[in-house]
Amino acid sequence: MTLPNDTAQNPANATSPFLAIHNLVKKFGENTVLDDVSLSLDRGQTMAIIGPSAAGKSVLLKCMAGVYGANQGSVLIEGKNIAENDASNDASWTDRVGMLFQQNALFDSLPIWQNVCFQLIENGSLSRKQAKERAVELLGLVGLDADSATLRPADLSGGMQKRVGIARAIANNPEILLLDNPTAGLDPVLSNHIENMIETIAKKHKTTVITVTNDMEIARNRYDFLTMMHEGRVYWSGKRDDISDAHNEHLTQMLKGSSQGPISMRTRNRGQHLVA
Ligand SMILES: Nc1ncnc2c1ncn2[C@@H]1O[C@H](COP(=O)(O)OP(=O)(O)OP(=O)(O)O)[C@@H](O)[C@H]1O
Ligand SMILES: [Mg+2]
Repeated sequence: MTLPNDTAQNPANATSPFLAIHNLVKKFGENTVLDDVSLSLDRGQTMAIIGPSAAGKSVLLKCMAGVYGANQGSVLIEGKNIAENDASNDASWTDRVGMLFQQNALFDSLPIWQNVCFQLIENGSLSRKQAKERAVELLGLVGLDADSATLRPADLSGGMQKRVGIARAIANNPEILLLDNPTAGLDPVLSNHIENMIETIAKKHKTTVITVTNDMEIARNRYDFLTMMHEGRVYWSGKRDDISDAHNEHLTQMLKGSSQGPISMRTRNRGQHLVA
């Protein structure tokens, strides 16, 4: 895909990036949901991804997390292709990447502390006693008290479940943190707290953070880079400081949340629009 001129600042142009996505194509049957997506970030850099519903944002994060393989293209962490589950990729990507799924994806039957430290228990990094202590510590970071550790997901509010998902995503101090709508459903005070925490983690551990968000204020002001997706493609990607000079009608419409513009509400498959 040829990006518009105003993507000259696309971080994909950086040399030797820590995380690089090259020409990623992902299809489900005949439906191409990622169409030649390229992006890159260095260690410690942060990026917000915005775009209308069904733009492919969640699928992109899942490809980065290794949940989905790619039809074409690559996701490289320090040159190793996780999209193909490259055999030479001995250090498992799960040890390097933490992800908050849009619907949290918590295990209903497990208590919260086991959800939070699931991977660390599974890979033998922590004993169950240590895992429980670590879970309580992580829950504290996201504003949940120790009592919540022994509850089950169904006992928590939607916002509390979201925070458990965030605690799980950061449990193994990932080098890459992928967050699919971390503040959706949270009140403004808590959103602020969570975004501050994400910023602190990125700075302290040089974590590379990619967050999908529907909060345009957060997208504009909290992240180093902004990427706008639509219909499986990157329509604009650049530095936060360059947003105001972008002159990109898709980006402008998305940031304003306007119903007028090139983005229209679409049905399941590309090309069919509810609103012309
Ligand atoms: N497992 C799957 N099988 C088939 N199609 C899928 C699958 N996962 C996603 N899709 C399709 O991929 C497209 C992009 O979905 P995705 O979840 O990435 O959208 P999104 O940008 O995250 O939207 P939203 O903002 O609503 O969360 C949609 O058309 C969706 O139906
Ligand atoms: Mg999504």
